[in-house]
Amino acid sequence: MTLAPWRPVLARALHRNRARVYCRYLQLATTDVHGKPSNRTVVFRGFVGEALQIVTDGRSEKVQQVQATPWAEACWYFTITREQFRIAGQLTLFNSDNDGENIRPNAWQALSAKARQQFYWPPPGQPRDRETTSFTPVDSTEQPPDSFNVLLLTPDRVDHLALRGQPQDRCIYEYTKGAWTTQAVNP
Ligand SMILES: Cc1cc2nc3c(=O)[nH]c(=O)nc-3n(C[C@H](O)[C@H](O)[C@H](O)COP(=O)(O)O)c2cc1C
Repeated sequence: MTLAPWRPVLARALHRNRARVYCRYLQLATTDVHGKPSNRTVVFRGFVGEALQIVTDGRSEKVQQVQATPWAEACWYFTITREQFRIAGQLTLFNSDNDGENIRPNAWQALSAKARQQFYWPPPGQPRDRETTSFTPVDSTEQPPDSFNVLLLTPDRVDHLALRGQPQDRCIYEYTKGAWTTQAVNP
């Protein structure tokens, strides 16, 4: 399969902005069953094929939303090159019930000890017990705990806006009928 046409464009943005650690942070929007949107910052953990990999806690609200409706859009702004990517598609959830292709173990291996710790914490979003010792660091296990989930965002539309240039450049990449199309549009 040939590489999606937006892939080298995004790879180039990641490379050119690599001096800023936060260039790997993007916003991921999902909706609940009523269509109400939620948006949050997540870390880009690399590509799995054409999909963007994100790690998250299976007990978090976003995971409930993804199970109800898989549609999502990521919004990613690169400050050095002044480019925005809006990446829409479907999220696939990998948890202890659906753990194909070693996605979870591989992602777990790649995590730092510090990043692993939060998956042993009490459930996110629940009222905090200030007396708790639940946040005390534990030795992380070789296999990921059940709370450790991976989301893969498989894009079907990428809207790339490059602010540099007069006029600005905007291009829409769309996956239709089994192939990607590329269309330059007015910014
Ligand atoms: C810089 C930054 C990076 C973050 N990275 C992640 C991440 O990779 N995965 C994640 O689940 N939450 C991450 N978070 C926390 C989320 O933004 C959010 O607060 C949390 O996941 C709960 O969201 P939810 O209730 O919508 O599920 C990050 C937050 C910040 C500020």
